[in-house]
Amino acid sequence: MPTIRLNNAEWTFDEEDRLGPPGGFGEVFRGSGSNGPVAVKRLKLTASEAAHREMNIGQSLASRTLEHVVPVLDYGQDADSDNYFLVMPICERSLQDEVNDKGVLTLAESKAVALDVLAGLREVGDIVHRDLKPGNVLRFEGRWRLADFGIAKFVEDSTSLRTLRGSLTPAYGAPEQWQGEAPSHATDVYALGCMMHTMLNGAPPFAGSQVEIRDAHLHTAAPPLGGNPRLAAFVGLMLRKSPASRPNIERCIEVIGSVEIAKARPAHEGLLAAAGQISREAAAAEAAAQAAATIERQRQQLMREASNDLNEMIHRLFAEIKLASDEARLAKNAITLGRGSLSFDAPSSVAPMRPDPYNQGPVWDIVAGATLSVTRAKVVRPPRSNDGFPIMYVGHSIPDDRDYRWSATLFFGQTKDDSNYRWRETSFWSFAATRDGGDEPYALQPGDREFQTAFSNTMGVANIAYGPFAIDGEDEDQFQHRWLSLFTKAVTGQLNRPDRMPIPDHYLR
Ligand SMILES: Nc1ncnc2c1ncn2[C@@H]1O[C@H](COP(=O)(O)OP(=O)(O)OP(=O)(O)O)[C@@H](O)[C@H]1O
Ligand SMILES: [Mg+2]
Repeated sequence: MPTIRLNNAEWTFDEEDRLGPPGGFGEVFRGSGSNGPVAVKRLKLTASEAAHREMNIGQSLASRTLEHVVPVLDYGQDADSDNYFLVMPICERSLQDEVNDKGVLTLAESKAVALDVLAGLREVGDIVHRDLKPGNVLRFEGRWRLADFGIAKFVEDSTSLRTLRGSLTPAYGAPEQWQGEAPSHATDVYALGCMMHTMLNGAPPFAGSQVEIRDAHLHTAAPPLGGNPRLAAFVGLMLRKSPASRPNIERCIEVIGSVEIAKARPAHEGLLAAAGQISREAAAAEAAAQAAATIERQRQQLMREASNDLNEMIHRLFAEIKLASDEARLAKNAITLGRGSLSFDAPSSVAPMRPDPYNQGPVWDIVAGATLSVTRAKVVRPPRSNDGFPIMYVGHSIPDDRDYRWSATLFFGQTKDDSNYRWRETSFWSFAATRDGGDEPYALQPGDREFQTAFSNTMGVANIAYGPFAIDGEDEDQFQHRWLSLFTKAVTGQLNRPDRMPIPDHYLR
């Protein structure tokens, strides 16, 4: 039997005699010290991984007498075995043993366990447990007490996140833990909410593979608990996805403490059922909002990266012009030379498009949109006295006494034909604009209904003049070439509306 020397004393334990199934962070063996039998927990963590970190939680708990926590008799690193240990008194059984034996607990039993757990959480004050689950709630000296306080934190501080993820118990992990965000008291409240399901229904709220469980914790409303409607509704609150909207420990004590064990009076049942329905709906709405928030975060990240890429592409385009002529005047988002100017509206984010029920057209995911345009400025001449005729719009050449602008939408996203997220270019034309010899092709905001209609098989005002085609990466040269040609035409006054719509691809590539 190995003997270990820790901070306070010497202990032996029997590696053949486990007190329960191995846990995520270690194993617990039957052992003994000078005062009799003890439980010895050996952490999976080695001393080198912990890099001589002090086990602060063990220390702060060992120095206090806590009524709702399994006492820590000794802790520390054994000099010989390169392992961390924690020594506790032997407890009667775990809450998991209790559930395994009984299948489910009664409302009264569950309420009593929950109040013991909450008393433990209140008692330790600032320390967050982070690994609350039925295997860590142990029966000792007439109470259910919390074991393994702060071990999760100790391991987290000492090892890589990957090791920790493998150690987390999926069934009780709160959404913020799955996302690698900081745990708080609300994390323990969430775990207790899961435990209420285990006690009252015999199983935690979500089952399946680790991936499925993670996804459910993040995005799916917990199934209704059943039983006492008031408690069921409250557990729904404890299982809210966003930590800030969960009840705090004091409120849990107050509400769970006041749950009536006796059956509710018949007069109240209808109201209670209605209240239960409302809280289930609220939980479902909250889960949906959380799912949307995750997607939104990913989109924002995508948007930031995409904006940087496009800004750099435009910067390179402007630099090319500047290189060709020192006369080119560069402003923040525009560059001008002779009669030509090239200007750019920086990218802005595009809200996810809603599928249009009347429209079978594709709904692509577009994350960001920007506009690039080339303008040929009008020629300013002194007015001629004998000029009695208005200047006519002839063919496709735009009269010299007005500005002419060619613009395109640059958007970052997928298309029907290409699921890659890339920067793409497209532009539009319409019969209405053609009649008044207006600025064509023109840009539309990707969020506009008209933009979407143009790509659908529904009739709309706007038609596609060209595109969309990818313009980043391997296609950037072509993009640069196209816009430098357009700009050159504008500079020399030759930029005109194309004589054919839609514009044939060879004209642009
Ligand atoms: N002090 C103790 N007295 C009696 N049995 C214990 C004691 N501590 C733990 N056990 C039993 O040993 C089992 C394993 O405990 P361990 O802490 O290693 O794993 P866990 O609690 O399941 O997971 P975790 O590592 O996340 O805490 C527990 O499920 C419990 O049944
Ligand atoms: Mg444990």
